[in-house]
Amino acid sequence: MELLIMAASLLFLGLFFFLFLSKWNEIILKREGLPPGTMGWPFFGETNEFLKLGPDFMKRQRARYGTVFKSHILGSPTIVSMDPELNRYILLNEAKGLVPGYPKSMLDILGTRNIAAVYGSKHKFLRSNLLSLIGAPLIKDRLLPRIDTYIRLHLSNWEDHMVIDVQQKSTDMALLIGFTQIAEAEFSSIYYKFKCEFDKLLKGSLSLPINLPGTSYYRGFKGRKNAVRILRELIEKRRASPATYDDMLEHLLRDDVETKYALNDEEIIDQIITILYSGYETVSTTSLMAVKYLHDNQEAMQELRHEHFGIRRRKAAEQPLDWDDYKSMRFTRAVVLETLRLATVINGLLRKTTEDMKLNGFFIPKGWKIYVYTREINYDPILYPEPLKFNPWRWLDKNLESHNYCFLFGGGGRMCPGKELGIATVSTFLHYFVTTYRWEEIGGEKIEAFPRVEAPNGYHIKLLKL
Ligand code: HEM
Repeated sequence: MELLIMAASLLFLGLFFFLFLSKWNEIILKREGLPPGTMGWPFFGETNEFLKLGPDFMKRQRARYGTVFKSHILGSPTIVSMDPELNRYILLNEAKGLVPGYPKSMLDILGTRNIAAVYGSKHKFLRSNLLSLIGAPLIKDRLLPRIDTYIRLHLSNWEDHMVIDVQQKSTDMALLIGFTQIAEAEFSSIYYKFKCEFDKLLKGSLSLPINLPGTSYYRGFKGRKNAVRILRELIEKRRASPATYDDMLEHLLRDDVETKYALNDEEIIDQIITILYSGYETVSTTSLMAVKYLHDNQEAMQELRHEHFGIRRRKAAEQPLDWDDYKSMRFTRAVVLETLRLATVINGLLRKTTEDMKLNGFFIPKGWKIYVYTREINYDPILYPEPLKFNPWRWLDKNLESHNYCFLFGGGGRMCPGKELGIATVSTFLHYFVTTYRWEEIGGEKIEAFPRVEAPNGYHIKLLKL
């Protein structure tokens, strides 16, 4: 009997402890006026459900609590906003204390002088420097010729009947293009060494910040250290050499005597890492998904080919693409935008509050994260009739700029400065790809949509030369 009572008491205590733990976050983070929602377990919060269920978790919470709710994800108390109007307000009002709130692992590995880690005047300064490197006028004269050269080089050994993994090839392409824009002359001597460290850095930037041997964070941090060492040596060599070059590094180094956006060496290194990092996954995923959607939508494929053969007919056989060619690619631009919308390459943007504030009538405490969840708007049937259909034509009547709630490239003062460069890179790739090949899917490979768009086992196709 005594044993039974003891077992029952233990069970009761266990149950009580379990319930207490499951409410722990809500108890210690309780404030008057917070949005509704649940906060999950201590430390882990609802991260597991968020990562496992992804968009379904968001939809479920929205059905229960409305378009603005609280949660606890990726180690922080977080307000999720699925309200288009509020999302717009947040992105357009950084000055009211709504600054970027990216995870610690990302900021540690990308550097303290990386653009997402700063705000106010420091942000304006770094952004102006960045625009002097990748803004539209630069694309025309300096960047597009190099994109053209290296995409052709990248495709040059893709033989007839070869099977390729488009995911692998497009990630290789994105880094190759980024690196050669920065330091073309040193490509053959340091690219592969650098790529190896950069790959570690990338994986570590999206991991739990546990700095113990064996973790992705630890390896990422080491990758960053080695990548920084390679870049520092490169800067020293360039400074010691009388030669001049026509690439971004030269521009960054020359700036220290010439322009008002001069950076010191540490800032130059973080700026280089930012450019490579920001353009890497976005450009490669868009290229991968464009190939997939075009394969599945032959009508769009025909229209795209028509546009690109039209351009080829105006040019000599090996003549590179120029700015006018790029500007004439109306349908290609629509394909890129429709790919970004349908695949939702960017699910949402993270912000954090620098002070207590009220949003939509709710109290949001200082230091809390806000997940500006922009995914759902991409599938709004009023804005995009038949939202699950790949329909590039919808972008021909209404361009990106006239979509008030469309955040494919973010919005406000953080609107992607690499937007035009990203579109130009994917468009150039599509130009050479669709004018050289037809392709067949090998088939059976899954492409995951959340938390990032990814083919876990690759996406393989068989190339057939036209
Ligand atoms: C298809 C390609 C691309 C997509 C979809 C894309 C998307 C975005 C989005 C949504 C943001 C806003 C982030 C925020 O508000 O927190 C952003 C910011 C940024 N992007 Fe892109 N991007 C692309 C290509 C590029 C490229 C090629 C580069 C550079 C070479 C680049 C550099 C940046 C940088 C530096 C920021 C931060 C700007 C700031 O904080 O002021 N992006 N991008």
